[in-house]
Amino acid sequence: MSERANFGSKMGVILAASGSAVGLGNIWRFPCMVGENGGAAFILVYILCVMFLGVPVMVSEFLIGRRAKTNAIEAYSKLAPGTPWIWIGITGVAAAFLILSYYGVVAGWTLEYTVASAVGELSGAKDYTAFFNDFVSNPWKPVLYMAVFILLTHIVVVRGVREGIEKFSKIMMPLLLLIICVLVGCSFSLSGFEEGAAFLLRPDFSKVTNKVILDAMGQAFFSMSIGMGCLCTYASYFSKDTDLMKTAGSVATIDTLVALLGGFIIFPAVFSVPGLSADAGAGLVFITLPNVFHLIFQNVPWLGYIFSLMFYVLLMLAALTSTISLHEVSTAYIHERLKWSRKKAAWAVTAGCIFLGVFCALSFGVLSEIKLFDLTIFDLFDFVTAKLIMPLGGMFISIFTGWYLERSIVKAEVTNEGKLKIPFFKFYIFLLKFVAPVCIGLIFINELFK
Ligand code: PFF
Repeated sequence: MSERANFGSKMGVILAASGSAVGLGNIWRFPCMVGENGGAAFILVYILCVMFLGVPVMVSEFLIGRRAKTNAIEAYSKLAPGTPWIWIGITGVAAAFLILSYYGVVAGWTLEYTVASAVGELSGAKDYTAFFNDFVSNPWKPVLYMAVFILLTHIVVVRGVREGIEKFSKIMMPLLLLIICVLVGCSFSLSGFEEGAAFLLRPDFSKVTNKVILDAMGQAFFSMSIGMGCLCTYASYFSKDTDLMKTAGSVATIDTLVALLGGFIIFPAVFSVPGLSADAGAGLVFITLPNVFHLIFQNVPWLGYIFSLMFYVLLMLAALTSTISLHEVSTAYIHERLKWSRKKAAWAVTAGCIFLGVFCALSFGVLSEIKLFDLTIFDLFDFVTAKLIMPLGGMFISIFTGWYLERSIVKAEVTNEGKLKIPFFKFYIFLLKFVAPVCIGLIFINELFK
């Protein structure tokens, strides 16, 4: 049996895992939610969810993956043979596959916006709502961009864990962080900076409603890639010296910082144009922002060009590091379960996701009338994965680690066989046994009956 692939360095581990976490969830979904839920109060609740629910569940996924050293499905059959726990793995792999199909569609939009920014088409457009609607309802363009995006993902995944995922993350994540810093630097000089910063930093506690708490939890899970096999698969490539707690802490910090900085790029820009609302939902990044770039840089169009291009390149890179992790979940499973070559397994995933992606992409146009439970195909995929499987997955993972797995295994993994001192071990177990299952159970019920 050939030796299993692994990441070559600690930095590689942190950058690959944060590559999975940092994505459209941070720069597209997080600002939408902050805008819709009233700003700083939402952010505060979000940070508490990351610390007390996200990090413990992330550590659990890491320890399951590293202990089992196999793909997300076989990990559970190895640690809990002959039990229904395998369903956490099965639904996780299925979710990763479905998420890639619809996430690839929005990732394709970022590619189109990057191209449109680069060739000057975006700055030349007058009506950004029409620009967006024409594009997403076009019968072939969104399909093409989605397919190209999934093929780009394929090119990285097929090269393997060290030569593909790790190498790519080591180049792209620093580049992504650099672009964010430049863009945040630029946004300091905008007239709306103060208002934008106040919106993000000055909490109005009267806005903390049940909905805000539950939305923040759901968003934290999506953003940290929790509950669907991604982190478990990546952790199966960790070495025995990887400090799981520290890695989870670093990933959570990077992920949260990027989301916040994303807010610092977007809201000062939005508040620089009188009369625009921060509460624009999904259109914030694709309709409001291009409009803002156009208006605030009217007198210096070349600056607007650079700002807009950098922003959409940033969005595209963030999406790409996440689609790679989604692709790897199913590729690793097919490769190991069916003993297919990595290349063949990756092709199967690419072809399958593009096939499903066509239906998701067209659900904004020619297939928009096809609905199930009043949801379009795209919305249905999103609902089933982000709203059902991810919270349920997170809940069962915490129950699995807190109640089912032998405590000695959990301790051995978290302390690297006793080599590390973990002062909060008891608190970690308490969070897993009681806090996480109850709180996540609540998100689930909320999402289901909303
Ligand atoms: N965390 C990614 C984001 O914030 O965009 C989305 C994601 C990636 C979710 C990988 C789940 C996953 F397994």
